Amino acid sequence: MTDQVIINEVGLRDGLQNQPVHVSTDDKARMAEGLVAAGVKYLEPVSFVHPKAVPQMADAVELTPRLPKGDDLHYTALVPNLKGYERARDNGYPTVGLVLSTTDTFNQRNLNMSLADAVASCKAIIAAAKRDGVQTRTYISGAFACPYDGPTPVDVTHTLTRDMLAAGSDEIAIADTIGAGNPQQMKDIMAPLIGEYGATPFFVHLHDTRGLAAAMAWAAADLGVRKFDASVGGLGGCPFAPGATGNVATEDLVYMLEACGLKTGISVEGLRAVVALASEATQRPVGGRILAWIKSQEERGRDICIS
Ligand code: COA
Ligand code: ZN
Repeated sequence: MTDQVIINEVGLRDGLQNQPVHVSTDDKARMAEGLVAAGVKYLEPVSFVHPKAVPQMADAVELTPRLPKGDDLHYTALVPNLKGYERARDNGYPTVGLVLSTTDTFNQRNLNMSLADAVASCKAIIAAAKRDGVQTRTYISGAFACPYDGPTPVDVTHTLTRDMLAAGSDEIAIADTIGAGNPQQMKDIMAPLIGEYGATPFFVHLHDTRGLAAAMAWAAADLGVRKFDASVGGLGGCPFAPGATGNVATEDLVYMLEACGLKTGISVEGLRAVVALASEATQRPVGGRILAWIKSQEERGRDICIS
């Protein structure tokens, strides 16, 4: 089992999409540069959604060419439907994130589609992406609970996951969109899937609403999952998922995984500068637990060494 972990930074998309203060394209570009300087290699900077549905994402086309460039950088754009997929492809994204929620209600609120229509739409996008040579990662949103209908039966998450893998989705992200899950549920969902498919296709996407995101990430890592979404500063929330707070903070996830002997290639100190930018851009204090601890140590005159 590899000790290398992929952390996909979703702060610019999931993190900013619900912020009340408009964040400029300049600020987003600066945050992307800071993230890459901190060692981040996987980023989801935009979604191609209706600009009226999510005004913070309206500059996706303008931001894209301003993102740092490099052969070792991997960008994903989130797409809600075929039109969004075509826009992502035409703007040069090599990977797209598809959204499939676990209930009719959530799909309706998020995508204006029933669950059955959303399944069909994802299959159509996966087929188009295969033809175009674009990689696909399907997010099973509300994999633990739906913001409207309550807890999600494990079988529902498993069935949608298997369906999307059978349709050819390269990866599946098991998403606790509202941060309602726990580490035992993570094991109940992931262990059978990893038994069937191995860990390689799986991402885990967590929100820290009830403070269990790091524990859930570790439960997944312990089973062999090596791909995680995270958001710098713990920014986040979904406009269509009431009660969802920020994603697991990238700096907390990096700190935990490195402390446990895994390798992320990301510097907590480097992320600190981006957290400062994010606080300024969103006009509110953000930052993971580890930064508060580092600050408290500095205030007491202690030297900290976290790479
Ligand atoms: N990007 C931009 N415009 C889009 C679009 C997309 N991905 N999909 C549809 N549209 C436009 C259509 O072209 C059409 O425009 P027109 O009125 O000028 O002809 C209009 O939107 C309506 O098209 P329709 O296919 O009926 O879309 P809809 O009204 O059912 O809206 C979504 C569906 C998904 C595009 C919209 O609800 C949306 O963007 N939601 C945001 C979802 C999201 O970001 N969730 C959080 C992340 S999980
Ligand atoms: Zn999310």
